[in-house]
Amino acid sequence: MSCGKVDPKCPNCRLSKNRTKVVPGTGPCDAKIVFIGEAPGKDEDLKGQPFVGRAGKILDDALESAGVSRNRVRITNLVKCRPPKNRRPRKDETITCTSLYLDRELQEIAPEVVCALGQTVAKHFVGTRESMSKMVGKESQIIIAGRPTKFIIAYHPAACLYQRKNLSGFRASIRTALVAADMA
Ligand code: URA
Repeated sequence: MSCGKVDPKCPNCRLSKNRTKVVPGTGPCDAKIVFIGEAPGKDEDLKGQPFVGRAGKILDDALESAGVSRNRVRITNLVKCRPPKNRRPRKDETITCTSLYLDRELQEIAPEVVCALGQTVAKHFVGTRESMSKMVGKESQIIIAGRPTKFIIAYHPAACLYQRKNLSGFRASIRTALVAADMA
């Protein structure tokens, strides 16, 4: 089964100008849970795979500490190309990219749980103005392929890179998402 295909030469937004490789999602097409990051960083852009740099190591460790190996979950991004200097993806880039790729990827997988990593992704789905600390770990619902799907907001793993004190909150938010998917 294949899912989440991305055109390796996608020309459809300005992020295509500076990228090295497009970065499709990885992990099973029948995954119970999909983790969605904001955008590829430098390591991801070079390798063409999501979360393979330092933030990826933090995510992998959080999954492992909850007893779940990375190859059981789907890991993907809101936009599939690295924004210059790791800036936030702009609204038009996000709309173009998600309507071409992420929306279909989610429909193909039809997971039980979608976990947004960080505020940019959370806002894309639920447009909330609340602070992250109020939103994290709370379960709501989004509709995917006509089906109500659990939606959980977690911290972004990069929040732990400079502030190690965020690590326990990050791990707890990942565990909450895995519990919602009945995986931890
Ligand atoms: N940060 C993200 O949001 N996604 C990646 O793939 C890597 C770092």
